[in-house]
Amino acid sequence: MKRILIVDDEPLMRISISDALAEEGLTVIETGLGHDGIEALKESTFDLVITDLRLPDTDGIEVLKACKQYAPEAKVILITAYGSVDTAVEAMKMGAYDYITKPFSMDKLLLMVERVMRLRELEEENLMLKEQVERRYNFDGMLYKSEKMASVVESVKTVAATDATVLVLGESGTGKELIANAIHYNSLRKDGPFVKISSAALPETLLEAELFGYERGAFTGAVKGKKGRFELADGGSLFLDEIGELTPAIQVKLLRVLQEKEFDRLGGTQTISVDVRIICATQRNLKAEVAAGNFREDLYYRLNVVPITLPPLRERRDDVLLLADYFLTKFSEQNGKGKMGFSASVREAFLRYAYPGNIRELVNIVERAVVLARGTEIELRDLPDDLNSCADSLSGGGGGRCCNLSVAVKDFEKQCILKALAEAEGSKSLAAKLLGISRKTLWEKCKALEVAPT
Ligand SMILES: Nc1ncnc2c1ncn2[C@@H]1O[C@H](COP(=O)(O)OP(=O)(O)OP(=O)(O)O)[C@@H](O)[C@H]1O
Ligand SMILES: [Mg+2]
Repeated sequence: MKRILIVDDEPLMRISISDALAEEGLTVIETGLGHDGIEALKESTFDLVITDLRLPDTDGIEVLKACKQYAPEAKVILITAYGSVDTAVEAMKMGAYDYITKPFSMDKLLLMVERVMRLRELEEENLMLKEQVERRYNFDGMLYKSEKMASVVESVKTVAATDATVLVLGESGTGKELIANAIHYNSLRKDGPFVKISSAALPETLLEAELFGYERGAFTGAVKGKKGRFELADGGSLFLDEIGELTPAIQVKLLRVLQEKEFDRLGGTQTISVDVRIICATQRNLKAEVAAGNFREDLYYRLNVVPITLPPLRERRDDVLLLADYFLTKFSEQNGKGKMGFSASVREAFLRYAYPGNIRELVNIVERAVVLARGTEIELRDLPDDLNSCADSLSGGGGGRCCNLSVAVKDFEKQCILKALAEAEGSKSLAAKLLGISRKTLWEKCKALEVAPT
C-alpha cells in the first residue's frame, strides 16, 4: 500500500488533494504544520511527500531536507505560488522530484502522483531483484553463493530424486559428507535408513565384517551373528566414504553387490538380497588409481554412474567470507562471546589463503581465532601461522620455527599420536582407544599431521 504525506496549511487545498488521492486507493496522512510533517517522516515510511513551499512554522525546503534524512525512499513534490519558481528549481537541485505551481488542476497533480507511484514500484522491484541475486543459499546446511557451488547443488537436487549410484569427488574437507547427506535426505528413500561407513577407518577384515555382516562362529569371537551395513541400509542409502582405500578383496565383493544386489554374510551360506542406494566418496583421483592398477576398472564404472565433483575452497572464493562469517557467529555464540567481527586485514588474509584443508580448515581457523581473540574483533594475530606468517615478527626474523600456538599444539598432537601408535604396535583401533578419540578422527589427524600410517 502506497503512503503519501501532505503538508499544507490551507485546509481546503489539503482536503481536496487528500480526497482525490484517497479515491485513487492511496493512504494519505495530512498535516498543516511543517514540523508535524517532519515528525511523521521520522516515525514512518512514505512513498511520496507533497508539501507547500511556504508553511507557517517552517518551509518546504526544510521538509525536503528532513525527507532526505529520514525517509530517503520518498519522492517530494513541492507546491509553489506563482513567483517562487526559482526556489522550486533550487529545491529540485536538492533532490525534489518535481514542483507544481498554484493554481493547478487536480488532474495535473494526479498525473504526477501516478508517475511517482510507477517509479516507486520500479525501485522496489529493482531492490527485490538485487536482494534475490545477493541471496545466500542454504541447502541442507550447505552455505554458498558461488556459481560453482550453485551448479553442484543443482546436480545434487537432480540426482537425489533418482536411485542412481553417486560418486562424490573432492579434496579433503570440501563437504563430501554434507553432499551425501543432502542426497539421501532429498531422495525418495529419505524415510529409510541412512547408513555410513568409512573404508579408511577399519582394517580389511573388520571392514568386511562391518559391510556384509557375519554368522555366528564365522571367526573366533563371533559368538553371535551380526547384520552388516548393507543389510542395515536396506530400503535406504549407504554412504561408502573413502572408497579409494578399499582393498582388492573388498573391491571384488562390492562389485558383486552392485551387480547382483546380493551378498553372503561372512561364514554364511544364505545369500541375502538388499535394496540399497549407494553414495560413495573419495578424495583420491579414482581414475588415476584405476590407471595405476590400484582400483578395479569395472568397479569404477559401477560407482561412477553420476559423479559430483566439489571444487576446492580456493576455487570458490565468493564463499569464503560468507562461510567465515557464518562460523564466526556460530563459535562466538558457543563460546558466549557475543557479537564478534573480523578486522579488514583478517578478511583480506582469508581471501588470499589457499586452504589446503578446505572448509574444514576454515572452520578450525575461525574456531581457534574466536577462542584466542582478546576483544570482539578477530585480528591477524589470532590467525594461524599459515595465514599470518609470523616468522618475521615472532622469531626475530631468524626464519626458524615460530612460537605460534597452533604449531605447538600440532607438534604435541603429533607426538602423542606417534607414541600411541608405537604403544599399540601399529593397531590403529587400539591407538585410537589410548588417545580417547575415534578411529576416524585418528585417521583424519594422521592425514592432517602427516603421520605415516603403519
Ligand atoms: N557449503 C558448506 N557450508 C557450510 N559448512 C560446510 C560446507 N561444506 C562443508 N562444510 C563443513 O566443513 C566440514 C567438512 O565437511 P565434510 O566432512 O562434509 O567434508 P569431506 O569432504 O567429507 O572431508 P574429508 O575428505 O576430510 O572427509 C564440516 O564441518 C562441514 O559441516
Ligand atoms: Mg568426509
